[in-house]
Amino acid sequence: MTIYTGKDYQDVSRKAANIMSAQIIMKPDAVLGLATGSTPVGMYAQLVEWYKKGDLDFSKVTSVNLDEYKGLSGDNDQSYRYFMNQNLFDHVNIDKERTFVPDGLEEDSDKACAQYNEIIRKTGGVDMQLLGIGGNGHIGFNEPGAAFEKETHCVDLTESTIKANARFFESMDEVPKQAYTMGIKNIMAAKKILLMATGTSKAEALYNSLYGPITPNVPASILQLHPDLTVVADEDALSLIREKGLL
Ligand code: GLP
Repeated sequence: MTIYTGKDYQDVSRKAANIMSAQIIMKPDAVLGLATGSTPVGMYAQLVEWYKKGDLDFSKVTSVNLDEYKGLSGDNDQSYRYFMNQNLFDHVNIDKERTFVPDGLEEDSDKACAQYNEIIRKTGGVDMQLLGIGGNGHIGFNEPGAAFEKETHCVDLTESTIKANARFFESMDEVPKQAYTMGIKNIMAAKKILLMATGTSKAEALYNSLYGPITPNVPASILQLHPDLTVVADEDALSLIREKGLL
């Protein structure tokens, strides 16, 4: 595991974008595993800036996203497909036909998940998987207690996650209660993992994930077993790890 420290959110965004760019430059037809959430927004903005300067070419890149809310269409401004279009895909020369997000409108969960696993398999495997982390240590939508051996599956979101997402919807009724997410098995199959974390609200989850016991109660703790894990985090997110003298 390698940990890179950023001064602040912007610094973390730039460092993570540098790592992602290096992947694209070294392997122009890379398969990128992408993530949503507020954490990677600055990193995507940096990638768009470098693309506009002519430093990056996404024309051969394939992407597979971690998760999507069940019931939301790609046109819904709260869907993760919409997020990806807005933050990255609409601004770079990626072929949209090669950008994959689970199909939120597929009501048959088994079908949606089997289809997505097949899509991932057909890409030949993820070269670099980007991850944010939930305050409770969740990755993608693999909430505490999720089985490590699962591939893409449908999850009931926890109360804390539903509440955290509520700010993006007009009423509690509209907040999705389920999502399709890559499982831990899919995530661990990526050749490289890039985990980003910023802010004090992530300090405990980051400490537990990187230095605590490996347990499904802290889904990100499985990352300790990944052979190529890079963490980019700001001082706030690393504060507990520093306090314990581990960095
Ligand atoms: C959601 C997403 C995760 C993300 C997490 C943290 O639950 N499914 O992929 O890592 O939120 O979000 P944020 O980056 O906004 O803190």
